[in-house]
Amino acid sequence: MTKNTTSQHDESEAYDVSTENAGTGLTHVPHLLSLKGAGKSYGNIIALSDVDMDVDAGRVTCVLGDNGAGKSTLIKIIAGRHEHTTGTFEINGESVTLKSPREALNLGIAAVYQDLAVVPLMPIWRNFFLGSELKRGWGPLRILDVEEMKRITKRELLEMGIDLRDVDQPIGQLSGGERQCVAIARAVYFGAKALILDEPTAALGVKQSGVVLRYILRARDRGLGVIFITHNPHHAFPVGDRFLLLKRGKSIGYYEKKDVTLNELTAQMAGGAELEELAHELEQVGGNTALIHQIREAEVTSPTV
Ligand SMILES: Nc1ncnc2c1ncn2[C@@H]1O[C@H](COP(=O)(O)OP(=O)(O)OP(=O)(O)O)[C@@H](O)[C@H]1O
Ligand SMILES: [Mg+2]
Repeated sequence: MTKNTTSQHDESEAYDVSTENAGTGLTHVPHLLSLKGAGKSYGNIIALSDVDMDVDAGRVTCVLGDNGAGKSTLIKIIAGRHEHTTGTFEINGESVTLKSPREALNLGIAAVYQDLAVVPLMPIWRNFFLGSELKRGWGPLRILDVEEMKRITKRELLEMGIDLRDVDQPIGQLSGGERQCVAIARAVYFGAKALILDEPTAALGVKQSGVVLRYILRARDRGLGVIFITHNPHHAFPVGDRFLLLKRGKSIGYYEKKDVTLNELTAQMAGGAELEELAHELEQVGGNTALIHQIREAEVTSPTV
């Protein structure tokens, strides 16, 4: 990790008025994570440029964007898989450049990827402790503490509200949504402060998506700063506290929840012109008039950027 001594603060940072500083009346609390003007190029391809984004404990920051928008590039910077090439990345107010995922993990940044690295035939508890197994006994007699690992897995899952009959069953038997939830519970147990979820609902149906969204809120309520990546504003809006919209590697909007509506997010994601084209096409084929009206409505309420 490279620590750059010039850490920048501006008025957008959080202020904690609950712990007053005798002299000033305000205590400066830096964001858990903060990107300012951050960007990444691969050779002469600019995958991401000039992105501002903050993540705070107990808050959900959503990153929205279509294919190729730069979402994965952004989380790779935060998760230590790629170094940013422009701008600053701060953790607790300190400017850093992460060199590896291990370094990010040591600083409490955990990422749950869509293609979860689970071993389908292994029991749930084994996957929960994969790479960090508990052992008991001494020296050559050290053995896996299976009972303790099962007990903790069951307890941690219950605490996240996941009641599985049997933590001994292979994780491959769980639904996609449940597997995502196990991964979230695991990150919480191993002390993550920031949790990145890369499109956890992309491959899921409505009901399963609802389950995952609920666990995102549980992780938030346990004080984690959550980064939720999705291309679905309907999933982002109910759980998000702030929203970053990316398009072709650029930020096209960054909003606090109070400053944006679901319609506006949807309209920005789709882009006004594309929505008009869709409404027109639907009209031509005699499509559902209520839907066409809704699409036009979204266009009108689209904020200008
Ligand atoms: N290693 C790389 N080398 C060169 N270009 C890259 C590399 N990784 C990403 N890009 C380019 O950067 C842009 C953003 O890609 P990125 O994967 O971040 O998008 P995304 O929002 O995650 O898309 P998706 O929804 O398809 O996953 C794309 O145009 C992509 O081709
Ligand atoms: Mg991606």
